[in-house]
Formats: sequence, structure tokens, C-alpha cells
Amino acid sequence: MTKKLIVGNWKMNGSLAVNAGLLQTLLAGLNDDGVAADVALCASAPYLAQLQALLQGTALGWGAQDCSAHESGAYTGEVAAAMLRDFGCRYVILGHSERRQYHGENDDLVAQKAQRALAAGITPIVCVGETLADREAGRTEFVVKRQLSAVIHAVGHCASEIVVAYEPVWAIGTGRTATPEQAQTVHAVLRSQLKAASAHSSRNRILYGGSMNAGNAAELLSQPDIDGGLIGGASLKADEFLSIIASCPPAAAVI
Ligand code: 13P
Repeated sequence: MTKKLIVGNWKMNGSLAVNAGLLQTLLAGLNDDGVAADVALCASAPYLAQLQALLQGTALGWGAQDCSAHESGAYTGEVAAAMLRDFGCRYVILGHSERRQYHGENDDLVAQKAQRALAAGITPIVCVGETLADREAGRTEFVVKRQLSAVIHAVGHCASEIVVAYEPVWAIGTGRTATPEQAQTVHAVLRSQLKAASAHSSRNRILYGGSMNAGNAAELLSQPDIDGGLIGGASLKADEFLSIIASCPPAAAVI
């Protein structure tokens, strides 16, 4: 199994000044004792140039929070995957539940975006997750498999190139984290789906997201099928984010 991947999703937060301070503290904190995980930060599009300028050549990668399903053209307000590539993005978060909920994104649109990202050389971080109503109705597995399957079918032989983030909607920004067992159960389902899709599925990383913080990260990250975290609120606080990174077991110890 590969190194853990810790991704900060800053959502619609930050400013030039705040970002600069946060990045400086993170870089200083990481230099102390090396980095046990791959780490990246996903910012709003206007700040990608800043991340490129400040993070190039460091241990921190960066990415965006969305991209267009179109290649280029008359799509006012949209940002093409190739544009993200121009700003050095390694990752793009796609199909986040906030985009599904507030911007009407459906499985097909997310799948088209994933195709665009891969064509531009950017790794899509495909978010899947059930609502509380889904979970209570026993539909968790059905929902996450449906969401992932749309992407797998669209990207075909590139399925092993995606990162998947399991983010139960009821755990996002609520302080209510999935238990390690609940998360592991869903991650195992997603793992078998990825295995069935590609002979190279050992490359896929499956992240957990939803109220992950310094206090619960170690236990979540020690689950066999949890390959990292997608962190919202806690990624805006340097000390919290650094301790989540520090709680990753070193790659050699990951089975
Ligand atoms: P929180 O960590 O704030 O719950 O957000 C999780 C998330 O949505 C990451 O994409």
C-alpha cells in the first residue's frame, strides 16, 4: 500500500494574507521531522497562483475544488482543467457533496469532470457519500457504489488513476465523525469496487472526510482501507493540520 494522502479542502475560505501565513506555518512545521504522508491543499481558483508561487519545490502539493466538464469555450464563469494544470495543480476535488447539494451536480456531470481532469493530467479526488436519510434507510452502500460507478465507467482504463474520498454528508462540518468501523466498512466496499474495475487498483487511494481532526485522525488512518484524509475545517488551523499529518503511520508500516 502506498503512502497516506492528506488533503486540505479550504472550501471558500482564505485571503492572500491569511493563506500566506498558514502556508508559512505549515512549511515550517513540516520541515522539522520530514513528512510521513503526501500532503496537498485545495484552494479557491483565484489563489492557485499564490499556491504555485509559494509551494513550488516544497513537500506540499496543491489543487482546486472543482473544474468544468467542458474543454474550453463559451462557458462563462467556468474553469477548465487545463487552466488548473497551468497553475501546477496536481489534484482537483470533484463531486463534493456541497457541489452536489448547492449546484445540482449529478453523477454524470461528476464523471465528465473526472474525464476532463485526467485528460489534463490532474488527479481527480472523487467524493462520494450518503446523507443521513440514506444511511438510516440502509442505502449507504447502494449510494456510494452508484456515485463511484458513474466515474469508473466514464474513465475506463484510467480508473486506477483516481483518488476516491468517502465523505458521509452527515459528518461534514458537523463535528459528528463516522466511527472508524463505519468508515472502514464503506471503504472496504469502495475498495472492492475499484478492484473489480482495474488490475492496477493498488494505485487507488481512498480518503475519509468528515470532521476529521487531530483527536480522531490516528484511529481513522489506522484502518486498513483508509488511505488518507480529506480535511475541511481542521485544514484551516496549522497546528490541527500538522498533527493530522503527524498521525499518519510511515509508509513502510502501512500494510
Ligand atoms: P470538515 O472536515 O469541515 O467536516 O469537512 C470535510 C469536507 O467536506 C472535506 O472535503
